[in-house]
Amino acid sequence: MDAFRLDGKVALITGAGGGLGVAQVQALAKAGATIVATDATEAALGAMDLTGLTDIDAVEMDVTDGGSIDRAVDHCTARYGRIDLLVNNAGISLPGSVLDYDMDWFDRTSAINFRGVFAVSRAVANVMVSQSTKGAIVNLASIGGMVVDGPTSAAYDGTKAAVIQITRNFAFELARQGIRVNAVAPGYTRTPMIEKYLNDPDYRSALENRLIPMGRVGRPEEIANAIVFLLSDAASYVTGHTLNVDGGWVIQ
Ligand SMILES: NC(=O)c1ccc[n+]([C@@H]2O[C@H](COP(=O)([O-])OP(=O)(O)OC[C@H]3O[C@@H](n4cnc5c(N)ncnc54)[C@H](O)[C@@H]3O)[C@@H](O)[C@H]2O)c1
Repeated sequence: MDAFRLDGKVALITGAGGGLGVAQVQALAKAGATIVATDATEAALGAMDLTGLTDIDAVEMDVTDGGSIDRAVDHCTARYGRIDLLVNNAGISLPGSVLDYDMDWFDRTSAINFRGVFAVSRAVANVMVSQSTKGAIVNLASIGGMVVDGPTSAAYDGTKAAVIQITRNFAFELARQGIRVNAVAPGYTRTPMIEKYLNDPDYRSALENRLIPMGRVGRPEEIANAIVFLLSDAASYVTGHTLNVDGGWVIQ
């Protein structure tokens, strides 16, 4: 099972202070990676539950700010001399009807969920191509990039469809440089992002009894485990793929 380990690898995670991000920090660290956990604010980084972990390097990085991305990437190269693994996890969801959707929300969602993935991948891929052992990238897409997963999620879902496509583009372009690029598409997973849906008894019942064949929402570590697989040598011939981790939602 050594192929599933990440020993000796330096991993940069965006949005690491969130529900899925913290689980990724935990899982990648347990698999042996050195973690650079980044988030937009010091407060988000400070809120991370790092129980049982030591030596997590917490660094501020706002994925909408080119200067902030460069500073975090420079920090990694100065301190570790390399970046082997990248998880583009930062993302927001601002639901609303298409009929009166706030276009500032649209711009913000696109800037973080789509442009942010592109900009951070671009910066980190440039480091990876300069290394002798290249690297692997995993992007957080969503089932919303493939199916309509809610009545008011057009802006969010559009960005996630874009993430699925640029995962293929980056994978194609970087394959001969030795860099693999894949995505994970979570279904509803218990984090602050979906709390509002779980607190609505009718919607929660629809999720558990109708929308999710496995009858329950996901756990953050179930997403993180799939990410570890895609980053590891166990997935050495997998690139450009989006792996659904959704309790069967999109097979219906
Ligand atoms: N939770 C789910 O059910 C679910 C389902 C499908 C996809 N996803 C995706 O998984 C990823 C993580 O979601 P989550 O549930 O952990 O959400 P979350 O809200 O718990 O965490 C998101 C994190 O992103 C950070 N962030 C926001 N703006 C940022 C910026 N400009 N720069 C850097 N970081 C920023 C936040 O501070 C937060 O720590 C997102 O891309 C989300 O779209 C989540």
